[in-house]
This record gives sequence, structure tokens and C-alpha cells, in this order.
Amino acid sequence: MIVLGIETSCDETAAAVVADDRRILADEVLSQIEDHRPFGGIVPEVAARAHLDLIDGIVERAMEKAGIGFQDLDAVAATGGPGLIGGVLVGVMTAKSIAAVVDVPFIAVNHLEGHALTARLTDGLDFPYLLLLVSGGHCQLLAVEGVGRYKRLGTTIDDALGEAFDKTAKMLGLGFPGGPAVEKAALSGDRKRFDLPRPMKGRLNADFSFSGLKTKVRQTIEGLPEGPLQTQDIADLCASFQGAVEDVLCDRTANAIETFRAMFREPVTPQTLVVAGGVAANMPIRARLEALASEKGFQFAAPPANLCTDNGAMIAWAGIERLQLGMTDDLTFKARPRWPLDPDAPSAIGAGVKA
Ligand code: KG4
Ligand code: ZN
Repeated sequence: MIVLGIETSCDETAAAVVADDRRILADEVLSQIEDHRPFGGIVPEVAARAHLDLIDGIVERAMEKAGIGFQDLDAVAATGGPGLIGGVLVGVMTAKSIAAVVDVPFIAVNHLEGHALTARLTDGLDFPYLLLLVSGGHCQLLAVEGVGRYKRLGTTIDDALGEAFDKTAKMLGLGFPGGPAVEKAALSGDRKRFDLPRPMKGRLNADFSFSGLKTKVRQTIEGLPEGPLQTQDIADLCASFQGAVEDVLCDRTANAIETFRAMFREPVTPQTLVVAGGVAANMPIRARLEALASEKGFQFAAPPANLCTDNGAMIAWAGIERLQLGMTDDLTFKARPRWPLDPDAPSAIGAGVKA
């Protein structure tokens, strides 16, 4: 079984070809970072136009690299949401058109499901597993029970973690996207120099909050001597920020691990903690979560960094999983700007995030 996957929900235009034996035959990603850089963040209209310009070329390139023709495809999958609607429409329309012409099923994939199932592509994991999904638009802990079957154990009540990284980077003049820049600057900084808050730490649930941390970063910058920020101050603040984020993630995930353990009492042993989404590319965060998992007797899995940030392979793989279960969509599918993985989860107060 071979599936073409298309991802256009944010600022990456991506297409990939994946086979059901977990081989990635092609994985092409074009970042629009340069288009958005002058604005210091993603501009939806700019993104939609860029996707339109890039999509045909990138699909062609992916097919060429895979060395197959459209007739060799068993289905075409595209991110159907959540995300910036202009971009999602471009991907969905392209996938539907190819599927209609080749006469194979079209599959609308929830972008978050793409992130959630990546560990099955990379590590061949069995269900169920515990997932920490941390990206530019989301910060959630989920019990992944099967394809399309998710229980949300915790979520952010305000900002997503990637957003907090991006805003911190912006305040420090580190540019966009901020996550990798903050991670790098933190390497030469002193984690103990600034006392930043650990929001929600110690609470019994598995929810997150990052707006207070962001505010404290701003106040700390304002408290520094006037004039241009010094390289060491930037490094120390990034290191302190990393430290706070790692502490919070471990504290919240530790609670979710206990909930997960109670949910699946007779487990498929051993149980596994997976981290996915763009922020999962952050090496110190991975290391801390791996240590937590081992302390709790859990296995740990994290996809390689290029499959943590947005990509087409995760959409193609989720397409394969759905195709195997007969879960295809018809051409009347409408792109969904919002699309929660667990529709039964109560909405967290103030959760202004994408899903
Ligand atoms: O999953 P993703 O590519 O797009 C969304 O679905 O949101 O995640 C993008 C987010 C951005 O906020 C980016 O700053 C963050 O992931 N990110 C990182 C790192 N690489 C990307 N955050 C921290 N450390 C990184 N190395
Ligand atoms: Zn994503």
C-alpha cells in the first residue's frame, strides 16, 4: 500500500510518499520562513498564497523522488484541519483532485493525528500509549487508544508551548521561528540566573499554562540595564526559560503517567511515553522526558526532529492507518479550521489555541 500525504496547515508546504511497511519513499518540506520573517510571525494570507504557489511543484518532486507514478498510489491523504483555513483548503483541493483523477480514495487527516501516530511510523509502537503533543498551536497530554480514538488528559488553558518559545525569542530579538533559536542560545546560558515561574506545577491535574511565564520573561527583560541586550543576558534568560519549561513539562506529564497507568491496568507491557509536535525537536526537553519515563518505569519514544516539525510523511502515514481500517472520506469533505482530537474533552477555560 502506498499513500501520498500533503500538509499545508501552517507555514510548511509538504508532500511525502509512504508505504505500509513503514518506508518513507519521499519526504519533501518547503518552509515559508523567509516569506513570514519580515512580519515576525505567520501571516495567514501570505501562507495561503505561498502554499498555492508551491504545492504542485512539491507534489511532483515527492512523486519523482519516490520513483512512482500517480497510478501506483492507493490513496491520497491531506491535512483536513485544524489549521489556517486558506492553507488547509489548498492541500485538501489538491489531494481531492489527484484522488478523483487517479480514482483512489481521498483521506482527510486531522493534523494532530498526524503528529500522534508518527511514533508508529518511526518506532512501530502498539496502542495504547501516552502522548505529550507540543507544537506551535497545541500543548496536550493524550491517551492514544487507537486510530481516531484519543482521550485528552490535559491541555493548556492559555498559550501553546511553541507559541511561548516563539514569543520569548521575539522579545529577545532572536527572530522567527523561536524554538530552535532559544534552544541554541540556552546552551551557553546559566539556568539559575533568573527565577522564572513554573505555572501549574504541583496541581493535581495535567493541564498547562504558559502566559504567566511569558509575562515574567518580558518583565525580566524590562528589568535589565537599558540599551541593547547583551549576548550573555539573552543566553541566561533562554537557559532559565528552558529550565522552567522542562520542569513544568515533567511535573504535568508525571501526573498524566499516573492517570494513564490507572486507565490501562492490565497493560500491554511495557507502557510508553511519546513526545511529538514541533517542540519535541528540542533536545534538552527530550532528555528530561526520557529520564522521567525511565523513573516511572515507562519506555520513551520521540520521532527524529524532522518528523516532529510539520511534514507530509506523518499525514501519509495517518492516511495509511486510516485506509487499512476503511476510514476514507468522500469529496464533499469540508476543511476544518478547528478539529479537536477528543471531542468529548471539556474545553479548558481560556484555551485560545487552534483546535
Ligand atoms: O508542529 P509544528 O511544526 O507546527 C504546528 O503544528 O504548530 O510546531 C512548530 C513549533 C514552533 O512554535 C517552533 O518554534 C517550535 O515548534 N519548535 C521548537 C523547536 N523546533 C520547533 N521549540 C523548541 N525547541 C525546538 N528545537
Ligand atoms: Zn504540527
